[in-house]
Amino acid sequence: MTGKLNIHSQDEFIMRVCSGRTTNYRDSLLLQFAIMFITLEGPEGSGKTSHIPHLVEYLREKGYHVFPTREPGGTSISEQIRDILHDLKNVEMHPHTETLLYQAARAQIVEQVIRPRLAAGEIVISDRYYDSTIAYQGYGHQQDLNEIRQLVKYATGGLVPDLTVLLDVDVKIGLKRKKQNGVEWNRMDAHEIEFYQRVRNGYLEMVKQEPERWVVVDASRDWDEVQDELRKLIIKHL
Ligand code: TMP
Repeated sequence: MTGKLNIHSQDEFIMRVCSGRTTNYRDSLLLQFAIMFITLEGPEGSGKTSHIPHLVEYLREKGYHVFPTREPGGTSISEQIRDILHDLKNVEMHPHTETLLYQAARAQIVEQVIRPRLAAGEIVISDRYYDSTIAYQGYGHQQDLNEIRQLVKYATGGLVPDLTVLLDVDVKIGLKRKKQNGVEWNRMDAHEIEFYQRVRNGYLEMVKQEPERWVVVDASRDWDEVQDELRKLIIKHL
């Protein structure tokens, strides 16, 4: 199932409501019901988190109904799980525990926020989603990819994004940026460089496996250039 699945019934709904009405009326309804589930992914320091609020503002100014979310987090329960995952004290956390906690946080946000927002006809933009688990716990921690895929399917109930943007950046540049920006330094940042290299390569591998869902954006460029490209490509896909 994809975030777009409901579009078919929304399309029918709009066609019925609009029969005999003006094109302007139809256009405003189409904006209101532009359902799309978009996820932004990337290694550390790729800039996802700083881009999302500006994208949301831009789309809202254009009349779209947009709801931003983040993972892990985005609900009270998921934010509590985020704290456990990121707490530097939890050095003894086993990779399986880590994987399962990400899925627990995800299951909650999918059911409590993402599905209802899509059903209400909104565009949901998520800062990370299950591809992060495949990249970090799968490729990064080298856990069995088939098992990881089964777990993420269970956690999401099979909800696949309509569009996933990879903000791709060289690992060393990304980590340097993160340190310079003074962003929260958490347990997930305490890995060796090879881990992040595997994560980035994992993302690039996923793009090859599912090119119809992914778009790669070169995030090593100036922030404004990246934001501009993100706006254009999202509008193109709506
Ligand atoms: P961020 O808020 O800077 O994106 O940090 C989230 C961290 O959690 C980042 O290091 C990636 C990691 N992560 C995973 O390892 N697996 C996941 O499934 C998710 C959503 C995040």
